[in-house]
Amino acid sequence: MSKKFQHSGITKKFGQTILVSMVVARAENGVIGRDGKLPWHIPSDLQHFKKLTIGKPIVMGRKTYQSIGRPLPQRTNIVVTRNLDLGPQGVVQANDLLSALALACEDAHKSGVNEIMIIGGAQIYSQAITHADRIYLTEVHSKFDGDAFFDLDLRGWREVSRIRHKAGKPGSPEHSVVELWAPSL
Ligand SMILES: NC(=O)c1ccc[n+]([C@@H]2O[C@H](COP(=O)([O-])OP(=O)(O)OC[C@H]3O[C@@H](n4cnc5c(N)ncnc54)[C@H](OP(=O)(O)O)[C@@H]3O)[C@@H](O)[C@H]2O)c1
Repeated sequence: MSKKFQHSGITKKFGQTILVSMVVARAENGVIGRDGKLPWHIPSDLQHFKKLTIGKPIVMGRKTYQSIGRPLPQRTNIVVTRNLDLGPQGVVQANDLLSALALACEDAHKSGVNEIMIIGGAQIYSQAITHADRIYLTEVHSKFDGDAFFDLDLRGWREVSRIRHKAGKPGSPEHSVVELWAPSL
């Protein structure tokens, strides 16, 4: 796993570049989840997530899949789990992250899209970061109590856009939607 995934031959196999992107919402103190859920409710960010991921394969950990509770429509849902008997309907199961990325690339190629989306949670982000070309990061400008964290070191990443949004209803804090490109891009 030391080499970046896209250098492992899969891109050559498909004859096209498929970007590995991560979609993350993260509080100031690194919290991304609490009790299996998001600690905030930011409707515009859920719309942003939908817009980013629709039509593309999404890769997630088993706990994130269970927290969503159903396959997200119009996207191939790839769930990473060591449990061979997960058995949910409507999802593709992968037994490790690299298999999940390979399945996602194959799906992207078939669908004619050039990006696969890693959508969490903490365990999957921490393993996937070395493979990522882009991060779509929502910086939530508050601190939250939580039990799932993502320790994100952005040194070397290039910020290509940033849009700040004001707080909405209670539970929907001020946040910024940021796009970052990996040093190699
Ligand atoms: N803020 C955000 O943007 C965001 C996004 C997504 C999720 N979240 C939050 O994050 C939390 C969930 O994160 P989490 O870290 O607890 O769980 P997770 O990453 O969603 O899932 C962990 C599970 O994935 C499987 N897994 C992980 N690495 C694996 C590997 N290398 N090979 C095979 N299977 C592997 C294991 O499943 P098995 O135990 O079945 O083997 C493991 O228990 C929730 O609170 C959720 O709401 C936040």
